[in-house]
Amino acid sequence: MQIGFTSPIHVITTNTESGLLEDLINDIYNIRENDSGFNLSNNMGWHSTADLFLRNEDSIKKICRICASSVGSTMKNYNTNFNPDDYDAKFVGWINVNPKGGSNNLHTHPNSHWSGVFYVQQPIEVKGYSGMIEFINPIQEGRELANLIPQKGFDPVIRIRPKSGQLVIFPSYLLHSVHSNNSETDRITIAFNSQLIKK
Ligand SMILES: [Fe+2]
Repeated sequence: MQIGFTSPIHVITTNTESGLLEDLINDIYNIRENDSGFNLSNNMGWHSTADLFLRNEDSIKKICRICASSVGSTMKNYNTNFNPDDYDAKFVGWINVNPKGGSNNLHTHPNSHWSGVFYVQQPIEVKGYSGMIEFINPIQEGRELANLIPQKGFDPVIRIRPKSGQLVIFPSYLLHSVHSNNSETDRITIAFNSQLIKK
């Protein structure tokens, strides 16, 4: 079988060293003290300045390195000869903190290749779609086949609720949104866009 058209969603369990998530949470709340943030796709949540890959906090530097190397590993799935040294990689990252009621409207990440979301703190609340990220299939006509063969790539939407410490990498063109956080715990993620320019 040759796969014709598909949109992959990579869910990666990262090897974060012990204490990194706790350090990230502390640093993120400290950063928020001095950053009123932006209003983009976020409703009620805080979206930080998109300077994450330029910051000096140890925890942020470590997670940015993990995100960048995971994009490299993702590329190797498609091109075993992929060598990151052959590319100028441009990364832009930011933090999202969604309190109870916080959500993100449907959007894409234009002018990028791969986008990603690292889950720093994902409430374990599983009622309804709380805090789930929802991806829209660009090929909506697949819904008929999805009735016959569900969960094989034809479904109109995919909803997932990754765990803390997991990283989701997806093509930047994929429309996605985040359902309202219905728990009392903040949903904290680090999001990024990457662009790989061949040297
Ligand atoms: Fe996004």
